This record gives sequence, structure tokens and C-alpha cells, in this order.
Amino acid sequence: MTTTGFATVPRVSRVAGRVRVPGDKSISHRYAMLAAIAEGVSRLTGYAPGADCAATLACLEALGARVTRLRQGPGEPGTVVIEGCGPRGLQAPSAPLDAANSGTSMRLFAGLLAAQPFTSVIGGDASLSRRPMRRVIDPLTRMGAAIDALDGRPPLTIHGGPLTAITHQPEVPSAQVKSAVLLAGLHAAGRTTVKEPTPTRDHTERALEAFGGKVIRDGDSVAVDGGQRLHAVTADVPGDISSALFWLALAAGTPGSDLTIEGVGLNPSRTAVFDVLRRAGATLDIPGLGPDGRADREVAGEPSGSIRVRFGSPVPFEITPAEVPLMIDEIPGLAALAAMHPGVTMTVRGARELRVKESDRISMLARGFGGLGIRVDEYEDGFTIHGGPPAGGEADAAGDHRLAMAFAIAGSRATGPVHITGADAVAVSYPGFFDELDRIARG
Ligand code: S3P
Repeated sequence: MTTTGFATVPRVSRVAGRVRVPGDKSISHRYAMLAAIAEGVSRLTGYAPGADCAATLACLEALGARVTRLRQGPGEPGTVVIEGCGPRGLQAPSAPLDAANSGTSMRLFAGLLAAQPFTSVIGGDASLSRRPMRRVIDPLTRMGAAIDALDGRPPLTIHGGPLTAITHQPEVPSAQVKSAVLLAGLHAAGRTTVKEPTPTRDHTERALEAFGGKVIRDGDSVAVDGGQRLHAVTADVPGDISSALFWLALAAGTPGSDLTIEGVGLNPSRTAVFDVLRRAGATLDIPGLGPDGRADREVAGEPSGSIRVRFGSPVPFEITPAEVPLMIDEIPGLAALAAMHPGVTMTVRGARELRVKESDRISMLARGFGGLGIRVDEYEDGFTIHGGPPAGGEADAAGDHRLAMAFAIAGSRATGPVHITGADAVAVSYPGFFDELDRIARG
């Protein structure tokens, strides 16, 4: 086993015990950015350890924020301390900002930088450089920023300046676009509104409130007034449900399994995937979630708790187009669950957005599972995967952390040896993933 480029996947025969997963990536980005424009010193425990959220911290440092990464004991979550610069305190960076592989960093920074009285350039790696940015360029330009890009792709040169509030309805449901517009709206004259007929994750809204901001929710609209001042917070970042999903899928598909994942985020805009797991046959208990859907524990506006999952004979399942935006990051892990059992299929439609993620997640998923002996029918906007079990073979992660983990989860139930190329991509969101898989495989 290696977590460098090439990984041999261990065989898992039962999943039991307790697991903790890294801090939530979406929440970490938002807390860090808001901490940098708040007044006072924020302390963020459990800050996501992956490369994406490290890129956000490096960009903030390049913009003048003081960031301290505190070392903890082995197995303890890391803490990040950020000294806020205040609403007008960010400085022009002396070199282009590097968002690495992180679409969330790039799009949210575009919103933050659009309002700054300086020009900045933000780019990223080859995968990020292929991703569409018009979805943020267009609304931010309407607000008054000037943004240069090549054919709507990174790098972005953002000429910030005074902004005016707008009302915006994103063309595709996107929490990143909503967040970029709301972050720009914090500094715009007037009230900036985003309309979302299909809801997306609401971490920005919750984080803004935790930092003392005011968010106006009205039906399918969310709005912020410009000129707000934010204050520092002390917050615990809950475990990332998108990372937890890989273990949930593995336990749900492995006979005799009984696994508890502790301290996971239970934000209702992220938990729709539980319904799909149950539909696929798994038994889930979420003891910290009351019958009204409220969690026992909530810190800085984010609920969290533990999830217990037990094997249930998997059955065919579908993800409807309406469900896709609330579980877009979980689709590769769900596909891994479907891949494990003969007679099980998973069909997803209305998921064209998968083609513009860290990779083209429809064709690369089909190719990777194909390499493990699993049949995938590919559609323009989704796929059907036909369960195996995987025969074994080689799958290429295509530089995509979630594909690397999906192939490893399915591969750990294969009848023959499985190798993954580009497995080091897991470092984007889950640096210790293969160590945890080894630990689980040892029982
Ligand atoms: C994210 C939103 C989603 C998701 C991404 C993280 C966020 O992207 O896929 O991994 O933190 O806002 P879109 O906004 O493009 O759907």
C-alpha cells in the first residue's frame, strides 16, 4: 500500500468499530475566508487537513492575513488561528494566488476579491484550469467588477472595486456561485439577493450568521446587505459527510458490518444522501438527530453527531435529477456501493454537472470502474452502474480525489487484486484515507 502515485487496495471482509473523518472542506473554506475579513482572532479546530483547504489558507496569507497552524497530538484534529484583517484590510498580493485543485477556493475568492480596491490574479492546477468560471464572472461583472479570463476559464484576473447589489439566479444550482455572489454582496452598496429554486448547501449562510452577519432568507431567496462587519469566532469544524460517505458505502455493502462514524456534520442540506443509502438497503441510525431533524449538537451554526451504519442486502437504486444538487459529491461513493453486488444497479440522471468537477466524473468513473471489470452505461447527464463484484484490475483516478476513493472502496471488495494509479489525489480532501482503509482491512 502506498499513498503516493500507485496504490494496491487491501481486501476488506467486514467493517466494524468507530471512525472519525477529516473536517468538512466546504465549512473550512468559508470559516477561513470569513475569519480573514472579520475583526478579531478566530480559532478553528478540526480545520480540514487536505490540500484544498490548505490552498485557501495560503491565498489568505498572500492577501495579508496572519494564519497560525497549531500542531496537535497524533490523531487529534488540527487547529488554525486566523487574525482577521477587518472588512477593508486585505492587501494586494505580490504574486498570483494559487487555488491548486480547489474550485471552491477559486469561486469564493472571486467573490471576495471582486470588492477589493486592487487587482489580483488567481489560478490553479491543470484540472482547475479547465473548469467553467463564467458562472461567477457574469454576476460579479454585473455588480461592477472587471474580470479577465481566457474563454471563461482560469486564471482569473480580478480588477476589484466598488460594487452594487444585484439579484441573481444561477443557471445551474451551485453553492459556490451563491457563495461568491453573497461574499461580494457583503461589500456592495445595497442588498444582494440570490434566488435558488433548487436549494444547495447553506454553509455560507450559516457561517455568516456565526460570524455575526445578518442573512435574510425568504422562500427560495437568500440576501445580504452590504457594509456589514463580522466578528471572530471560535468554532469546531465537524467531520466531512462527503468523506464519511465512503465508509458508509463500504459498511453498507459489506456483509456483517456495523460501523459508527463520530462527529460528522449533519447539516440538513448535506444529509439527503442518507435517504439514498436507506433506499439501497442499508440500516442507518443517527442517534444525535431528533425526530424533528434537529441535531443534539450545534457549533457555529453547524449541527453534528454520530452515524451508525449496518450492512443491509443492497438492492437497485436511483438518484433522481432533483436529488442531484444535494449529493453531487457523494455520487462516486454511491457508485462504489452499487459496484459491489451482482444484481444491484444505480442509475443517476440530471447530473451533467459531474462532467465539470475535478475530472469529467461521468466518463472517468465509467473508465475506472470498467478497468475493475464493472459495466457502466454512460449518458450525457449520468450513468447506470451494474454491480459486480469487481473482478479486479487497474483504475486511474484521473487526478480526482473522489474517484480515487470510490475505486478503492469498490476495489476493497473485489475478487482479484486492485491497483489505483494517481491514488495520491486523495490528499485533496482526505490525506489519511489509505491508512484508514488499511486499518479497517486489518479488522
Ligand atoms: C461546494 C459546492 C459544490 C461541490 C463542491 C463544494 C461548496 O460545487 O461539488 O465540492 O463548498 O460550495 P458546486 O457549487 O459547483 O455545485
